[in-house]
Amino acid sequence: MLGNAATRIAALAPALASGRRPSPHSAAAAAAATALLLHTASASASAAAPSASASSVPARVIQVQQLTADFRAAVAIVEQPIPLPLKPNHVLIRNRFLGINASDINFTAGRYNPTVKPPFSAGFEALGVVEHVGADVSHLRVGDAVVYMADGSFSEVISLAAARSFKVPSLDPAYLTCLVSGLTASIALEECGEIKNGEKVLVTAAAGGTGLWAVQLAALQGCKVYGTASSTDKVELLNSLNCHGINYKTQNLKDVLKAEAPTGIDVVYESVGGSMFDTALGSLAQRGRLIVIGYITSYADPSAAPKPTLDSASICRILLGKSCSIRGFFLMQYTDKIKAHLEKLIQLVADKKVKGFVDSRKFVGLEAVADAVEYLHTGKSAGKVVVELPAQ
Ligand SMILES: NC(=O)c1ccc[n+]([C@@H]2O[C@H](COP(=O)([O-])OP(=O)(O)OC[C@H]3O[C@@H](n4cnc5c(N)ncnc54)[C@H](OP(=O)(O)O)[C@@H]3O)[C@@H](O)[C@H]2O)c1
Repeated sequence: MLGNAATRIAALAPALASGRRPSPHSAAAAAAATALLLHTASASASAAAPSASASSVPARVIQVQQLTADFRAAVAIVEQPIPLPLKPNHVLIRNRFLGINASDINFTAGRYNPTVKPPFSAGFEALGVVEHVGADVSHLRVGDAVVYMADGSFSEVISLAAARSFKVPSLDPAYLTCLVSGLTASIALEECGEIKNGEKVLVTAAAGGTGLWAVQLAALQGCKVYGTASSTDKVELLNSLNCHGINYKTQNLKDVLKAEAPTGIDVVYESVGGSMFDTALGSLAQRGRLIVIGYITSYADPSAAPKPTLDSASICRILLGKSCSIRGFFLMQYTDKIKAHLEKLIQLVADKKVKGFVDSRKFVGLEAVADAVEYLHTGKSAGKVVVELPAQ
């Protein structure tokens, strides 16, 4: 049941056939230093009883069984029934849409937590329906549509503290985009970017899950927005959103920015890394802020990532010469901001002031999650990649 607000990007129906796939066994070369992985507190699904009984709900989950950035090789689907009755403050959610994130392969590679040992459950976020409510839960009812972020969301059913799930108007996957993708854009632009009306903002990977949120929020704030993408279709999508789309494959990004913004860019929302990071840093205006959101070019195969052209002395020269700054952002270190921002984003989608873009390619069932993860890393998706789980 898809609600009306879902914006599937039909014009961009992509092919998985070729492109950048995660290469196996790249975990060993992973750069573990910068925390980009969305490591949330464990949900009960991963701790459920090992076998079904009359007082449990059958559930299949995607479990990481070996550490590697090759998602397909890392995981297996296993049975993890959820015991009943629920904890008094918990709800049981039947997942209907799972959110796919670039960092899913960082998670399976065990990056950011050197002590993690398989098995553990995968997935960061989902949209589903409340199926049971614990005795102490009063704000949610059976049948409510909810979104949540929790480790182990790549599952059919999950038991979760009710306070961690947020009611949404319908089972429209546009609301799923508000979670990791929307929250990252909203909190990072406000807290690290400190964006102001009239400022120039550059978003890289702008037609992606979090990129499209950053573009729309910056435009809503009255900023002049530029966005990079790799295809004509994606650039057209960006242009339709009050954003100057730049095809970084066919245009010289540095030259375009110089011509468009001779005094420089005030805020960069950067999630690509490598030479894109270097160009973006060099484009900053005096007192400009570059937010490091990610460095996707190094995730699947760090050894194949484009080599940066700036050494540390050059970076210092740029920062000193323009009083500008580089700021890291990791969503799960801003948990105190999540509730207020998420409520705002859900309302923006409900009021149709922002579109929760969902990629047009349809993935169905837990078995399709690995396909969806690999598809995101081909670089062909536009908007949020989601996997739909059939209603039971
Ligand atoms: N810090 C945080 O808390 C946080 C939270 C969420 C996401 N992120 C980061 O934000 C970035 C985007 O994540 P997402 O989940 O929203 O993914 P996404 O943007 O929906 O998909 C990835 C996009 O990145 C671009 N890309 C550039 N170089 C690529 C490469 N070598 N391989 C594959 N894709 C490449 C592609 O678009 P074009 O090439 O067409 O531009 C691709 O469509 C990632 O770096 C992720 O780690 C960080």
